[in-house]
Order: sequence, then C-alpha cells, then structure tokens
Amino acid sequence: MGRLAILGALHEEIADLLAAMDPGAAVHRIAMRDFHVGTLWGTPCVIALSRIGKVAAAATASIVIREFQVSRVIFTGLAGGLHEAVDVGDVVIASTLMQHDMDARPLFGQHEIPLLGRACFESDAALSRLLQDSAQDFLRAGGMADGARANARVHAGLIATGDVFVNRVDEAQVLRKRLPDALCVEMEGAAMAQICYEFDIPFAVMRVVSDRADHAAKADFTAFLENVARVYTAGILAPLLKS
Ligand code: ADE
Repeated sequence: MGRLAILGALHEEIADLLAAMDPGAAVHRIAMRDFHVGTLWGTPCVIALSRIGKVAAAATASIVIREFQVSRVIFTGLAGGLHEAVDVGDVVIASTLMQHDMDARPLFGQHEIPLLGRACFESDAALSRLLQDSAQDFLRAGGMADGARANARVHAGLIATGDVFVNRVDEAQVLRKRLPDALCVEMEGAAMAQICYEFDIPFAVMRVVSDRADHAAKADFTAFLENVARVYTAGILAPLLKS
C-alpha cells in the first residue's frame, strides 16, 4: 500500500500520533519542518507539522510526496462550523474541497484555480469512507473527551479553505451565502488537495469542529485545541491504521 502521510497544522493536532509512533522513528528536517518517518499502529507513516495556512500546507504536501514517496495523504485538524447542521464537537470528512479566497476574476471564474480549470478537488472516496466509519464508531463509543457534545455527529461534504481565521458572524455569513453547501471552514485542506491532485496522490481531510466561525471562535478554538483535539485524531485514526 505504500507509506501514509499524516499532516496537521498545529502541534496539538498531531501530538498523540507522534507519541504513539513505534520506537526508532527517524526525524528528517526539511524546510524548517520535522518529518517523522516510521510506523504508527503497524502502518508505515510520515507525520509532519505543516504550520498554518495554504502555502505551508502545499509546501508540506509537496515534500512528503517528493521526499518520502507517500502513496496517500491525510490532513487532520480543527475547523470552524459553517453549515447550520454542523456544531462544535462534530467531525467533518471532506468529499470535496475548494479555496474560498481564490478569486482571479475577471481572468478566471470565482474560486477557479487559474490554469487548472477547476475549483474543486475530490478526496479519495475509499479513504474518506474509512475515516467516516471510524469517526462514527469513535463518537458512538462515547470516545470524546470532556467538552465535546454527547450527540456529536459525523458529516461528509464540502470543506472551504482560505488564508483567513473566520471569527466574525458577518464574515461567516458571506461564506455561507456564497457557498451554501460548505460544512466548515479551515486554512489548509484545499491547498494540500491541490498538490495531491497535481501529483495524482489520493488524499483525505478530517476536521473536528472547534468553533462556529463567530466572535467566540478564538476562545472556542483555543480551548478545543488544548483539551480535545488530540483525543479525536488518535481515537479516529488508531482503529483505521490497526485494521
Ligand atoms: N480552524 C478552526 N476554526 C477556524 C475558523 N473559524 N476559521 C478558519 N480556520 C479554522
């Protein structure tokens, strides 16, 4: 199957994965990032902290593909809920991703990636299904830490990515109106997706909703990151990699 890359934008989002890697993992430092190469729950992996934003995600995805010959990439982390059905503590698995801040009009259509002829990138259906099922099992088993909703749900659909931390109701409303199908907003997924598309590498994106992209987003995001994020990531990925 080849090596799996697991990427996250913040340390807390991948901390439990790094701690769970089998002894003997090698650390390669490239472009100011550490790439942890080894096995995680029996699966050959490279795990890396991308840092926040589209450029950081694209650079990190390019490196894992070119330097570590990965055959699949998973991006994991937090997101702000946009859709009314998506609440804090829910999990969103991307079926499609797009860059909500890409706008080269009038040269190209709104959101279209110039010279690529597309705005949306489809995630790998099989890998996304596995994540969805595992997230469902995790929530059903009551695996979430304190602070997550007891009736949290798993959603699959469109994720909107941009170099903006959305923390104002009016900003979130603009996105909801422009992209009514978008389930959540984050800052890396569609950039990684574009790179995987260009290299023809299957990918998936898993997001835990930490906030509602409103005035409380900063506080909600920070509390979620400190207390809950790591539990979800490891709790959802462990059964999938062990199987
Ligand atoms: N990631 C988590 N919450 C977010 C938000 N409100 N905007 C952008 N990215 C996020």
